[in-house]
Amino acid sequence: MKNRRDFLKTACKPIVLATLGIPIIEACSSDEEQAEMNTNTLGNNNTTQSNSPSELEINLDDDRFKDLKQIGGWVNFTSENILLVRISDDEIRVFDNACPHQGARNRWSFDGSNFTCSNHGNSYAASCSGSLKCYEATLDGNILTIDLS
Ligand code: FES
Repeated sequence: MKNRRDFLKTACKPIVLATLGIPIIEACSSDEEQAEMNTNTLGNNNTTQSNSPSELEINLDDDRFKDLKQIGGWVNFTSENILLVRISDDEIRVFDNACPHQGARNRWSFDGSNFTCSNHGNSYAASCSGSLKCYEATLDGNILTIDLS
């Protein structure tokens, strides 16, 4: 009886459910393992997953973000599915790059105040109170920290 109890405490949920005949598809890794995997996947000098798996740090010195040096400059960072736009010297807004209409991620243009998705021509304000999903982001020097949760 004790062995069964120990097994249930230590086995991951999908294995326990599978032993009970309940099929489920889910990875058997802990949050720590997942965070470590994200670090390995994203770990380079300029873009890293920080302590929280939902936090992303971007070094703006990276050439991929050079357009963010000027107010009004923007970047569609497709590998992380985010749109970034420089609002002021000390603010960069970050949005999910999925178009609210049908989810296109790579058809964006920016006119200085609105993003337009050329898939069907809809425009969205670069505002955190608009239709685009906005992420909390803080700028400290050249390091932009984004909370992707
Ligand atoms: S998917 Fe963007 S406007 Fe339709």
